[in-house]
Amino acid sequence: MSLSVIILAAGQGSRMLSDLPKVLHPLGGVPLVLHAMRTAREIDPERMVIVVGHGAEAVAAVVRAEDEFATVVTQTEQLGTAHAVDQARAVLDGASGDAIVLYGDTPFIEARTLDAMLAARLRHDVVVLGFNAADPGRYGRLIAKDEDLERIVEFKDATEAERAITLCNSGVICADRARLFDLIAQVGQENAAGEYYLTDIVALARAQGLSAGVVRCAEAETLGINTRSELAQAEARFQARRRVEALENGVTLSAPETVYFAQDTYIGRDAVVDQFVVFGPGVTVESGAHIRAFSHLEGCHVSRGAVVGPYARLRPGAELAEDVRIGNFVEIKNAQIDEGAKVNHLSYVGDATVGARANLGAGTVTCNYDGVFKHHTEIGEGAFIGSSTMLVAPVKVGAQALTGSGSVITQDVPEGALALGRGKQETKPGLGKRLMDRLRAAKAAKAKG
Ligand code: UD1
Ligand code: CA
Repeated sequence: MSLSVIILAAGQGSRMLSDLPKVLHPLGGVPLVLHAMRTAREIDPERMVIVVGHGAEAVAAVVRAEDEFATVVTQTEQLGTAHAVDQARAVLDGASGDAIVLYGDTPFIEARTLDAMLAARLRHDVVVLGFNAADPGRYGRLIAKDEDLERIVEFKDATEAERAITLCNSGVICADRARLFDLIAQVGQENAAGEYYLTDIVALARAQGLSAGVVRCAEAETLGINTRSELAQAEARFQARRRVEALENGVTLSAPETVYFAQDTYIGRDAVVDQFVVFGPGVTVESGAHIRAFSHLEGCHVSRGAVVGPYARLRPGAELAEDVRIGNFVEIKNAQIDEGAKVNHLSYVGDATVGARANLGAGTVTCNYDGVFKHHTEIGEGAFIGSSTMLVAPVKVGAQALTGSGSVITQDVPEGALALGRGKQETKPGLGKRLMDRLRAAKAAKAKG
């Protein structure tokens, strides 16, 4: 049975008070809309349509970068949720099977909940995801008896008695694709908001002798984001959940509440993550790696047995092979560090390859940027880079080669060679002490006046 997912993301999100479209605000390091898309992907849809409106171009760009097969349709005027879904009509024309409607601002719906809705479709023509709200506020209310759903009434249109109902509409709806669009075509806008309500399809279905059902989930799953405060709460909830997951997957977290994850962080079992570590998007850490305190990682891979930090920064494209050591105040960007290599202190390694077991001394810098272009540095296997070496890229240091401390290396160093690129030392016997004595005498004379 093929499946289509429609994600509504056209709304302005005016309560965010932001120039950035609401669904592009980050949660767990990635734009909000990607959470719904990634959950949707777990149920393996054949088609995915994202309805954009406010900030359409920016949202479309993020959606396309995530999934080249997703279709973006634009709702130029936001006339309501039914109208929004209707924008997907043409692109889904002819698709067989069910369609599920999700919201781009509701990131926590779980794939298994969607599976439960698809299962309930065997009993009902239209299935709505509901939840019991602690504070039902302005949610649409579900008029239901057990699993049977009679209709949905929006808060604005509800009577006092209906407003007392705590079973609320999450917004997630599932029906056969053709039936969904058939019902939407009948939705009017005679209501308090003057909008085309998607929720009206329930009563319309019932009037035609079709059945509607409600599947319930925990309220936390339906948390939608409308304000910065809700975004902050969602982030806290996201982090709390990811910490528990990491622990349950066999990762040691020395102080879980101080570790921050991104939506796609992957950490293998028996990895150890110490206090105050931040994972930005795109990080994978293999089993048995150790990330020490106060490190910041994004877009990087850390292999088995590697040790990172304390106080290390791994930026996008940092690839650490097994047993690599990256120490304090070291920044690695777009660089492959091969097995057992060490960059232990105060270094910058960017746009580089570092061979196995090479050792980069304290203060090594790859000077990769000439102000316009980026250049590559290659360091061979087992090379030894003396402390405070400036490697002016493009440059190669051969395997087993050495550079003297304080060298500025501007030419390639052949395999096994020693390269010195620094001023020659001059030593004047006794001059240091004589100079100091003279200065002290001058100071004493000045003090006397
Ligand atoms: C909607 C539901 C309500 C439910 C609540 C759950 C309707 C009529 N009401 O109300 O029953 O309890 O969600 O959060 O469906 N959107 C568009 N285009 C539009 C209108 C909305 O893309 O023209 C998108 C919004 O960006 C948002 C989602 O649809 O992601 C929901 O719209 P919103 O206006 O927030 O609906 P609510 O009034 O909260
Ligand atoms: Ca809303």
